[in-house]
Amino acid sequence: MFITFEGCEGVGKSTQLNLLKEYLEETGQEAIFCREPGGTSIGEQIRKVILNPENTEMADVTESILYAASRVQLISQVILPALKEGKIVVCDRYLDSSIAYQAYARGLGVDLVKKINYFAVENCMPDVTIFLDRSPAESFRATPGDDRMEQETREFHNKVYEGYKAEIGTSNGRIVAIKPDFDRNITKQMIIDVLRERGAIK
Ligand code: TMP
Repeated sequence: MFITFEGCEGVGKSTQLNLLKEYLEETGQEAIFCREPGGTSIGEQIRKVILNPENTEMADVTESILYAASRVQLISQVILPALKEGKIVVCDRYLDSSIAYQAYARGLGVDLVKKINYFAVENCMPDVTIFLDRSPAESFRATPGDDRMEQETREFHNKVYEGYKAEIGTSNGRIVAIKPDFDRNITKQMIIDVLRERGAIK
């Protein structure tokens, strides 16, 4: 089973991924956790190029291709081999991030971004995607983060959120929106319930 997590910046994705990891360990379920961009040696090198705040001249298509390159490496080196071995794979961000950020917020359009991501779209789609549904207005930090994407405008991040919302509607139920609760353990339980209902975990 291939599970992905999505959401805007600062929605508590990392916290929830850690809580899910603990739950899977406690219940003896073998899983591997990875992140995008990155998750492989080559992917982590690509991540540095993408997120380096000095790379202000990066063209939007270059950005999209770099995310896709990191993704293809992760799919071939980590995700597909683990799925073949029957492991649960949990990935922090995946193709839906490219749809929200590059297709909608950058304005490249869904068709082009899907073409750039042909390998992922054709060979390796998640069974279920948890979208932590908190808008930038609800979760924005007082000061912007340090990386090139975090330094984007509020308007950009609002478009990311709208992109995700549009994507949910076309996902045939694959993407499940969960409104994070104040209490992280309540959110954790909501996520586990969805993943169990879908048969993604026990
Ligand atoms: P992270 O901060 O969750 O590790 O993600 C890195 C940044 O990259 C985050 O701002 C979201 C962005 N991103 C994209 O724009 N497109 C993508 O395809 C992915 C995977 C991430």
